[in-house]
Amino acid sequence: MSSTTKVKRIGVLTSGGDAPGMNAAIRAVVRCADYMDIDCIGIRRGWNGLINGDVVRLDAKSVNGIINRGGTMLYTARSTEFMTLEGQQRAAQTCKFLGIDGVVAIGGDGTFRGCLDLSKQNIAVVGIPASIDNDIGCSHYSIGFDTACNTAAEAVDKLRDTMQSHERCSVVEVMGRHAGHIAIYVGLAVGATTVLVPEHEVDFERDVVERIRAARLAGRTHFMVVVAEGVCTAQEVAERIKDELGLDPRVTVLGHIQRGGNPTCRDRTAASKMGYIAVKALAEGRTNRIVCERSGEYIDIDMEEGLAMKKSLNETTYNALQAFAGAYA
Ligand code: F6P
Repeated sequence: MSSTTKVKRIGVLTSGGDAPGMNAAIRAVVRCADYMDIDCIGIRRGWNGLINGDVVRLDAKSVNGIINRGGTMLYTARSTEFMTLEGQQRAAQTCKFLGIDGVVAIGGDGTFRGCLDLSKQNIAVVGIPASIDNDIGCSHYSIGFDTACNTAAEAVDKLRDTMQSHERCSVVEVMGRHAGHIAIYVGLAVGATTVLVPEHEVDFERDVVERIRAARLAGRTHFMVVVAEGVCTAQEVAERIKDELGLDPRVTVLGHIQRGGNPTCRDRTAASKMGYIAVKALAEGRTNRIVCERSGEYIDIDMEEGLAMKKSLNETTYNALQAFAGAYA
């Protein structure tokens, strides 16, 4: 697509794991398209919807009342069929048949790789980062992270009440398949005794045993251990604590409740701004772009460059966590 080609009809889809704020992003895409005089088609069930022609026409009214709703009104899926060339060609065929010349895909890295495949079939594509894990390399922020952290922190606060009453140790497993962003933000917010993340090799003696021991010597009688699922299970951590310290920890796996719930103000506004930037990029003739948040500003960057970027844990958050948790030592 040339840099001056303006799209006339776009499709919007959500793909991969859902994240609170996806609905707000869909709404933003639809409303901005309407404002810019571009037709909008909702594609249901991720890339599968494009392969199967599972679509719905969306206008400004059809996204009434969803900005505050968790989940995704378009459903989502992880499509194995779209990973094949045949699937991609069928998806492109649907686009051609329906006159869709651009697609906004809301999801994570896997979704963006799908975008690149579709772009090879001459469809303009823009990706919007949405993942509670906040692990999309090129963007400081991914839609859903704030809501997930708030959900997890609220749950841990409740756990703390009962752990404090019974003078117990709690081991809480939070989501984060390959990333510890949720774990460190929640750990900092709840004042965890220690936090285990996949980005840093765990030395059990140093990171768990010594931390709990130091907290006990400082007078604490309840302990909160937060572990990202990418490290190991909370059950494994609890068993080791039992073996090495003689405590009888209680295990809580927060699981999918972290993926649900009404998006926070931060997620709604991020989603709204990202949706706007995505449609603007397509309207201005740009393709193969990922919308990114960089230090509070929203921009779109080249998709291949974006996919090549790696993201590390927020250093200040991690260091602050170490300082507070290590303060007993
Ligand atoms: O990528 C987001 C995430 O919630 C991960 O933290 C988690 O490991 C995974 O998705 C679970 O995915 P699902 O249960 O949808 O397969």
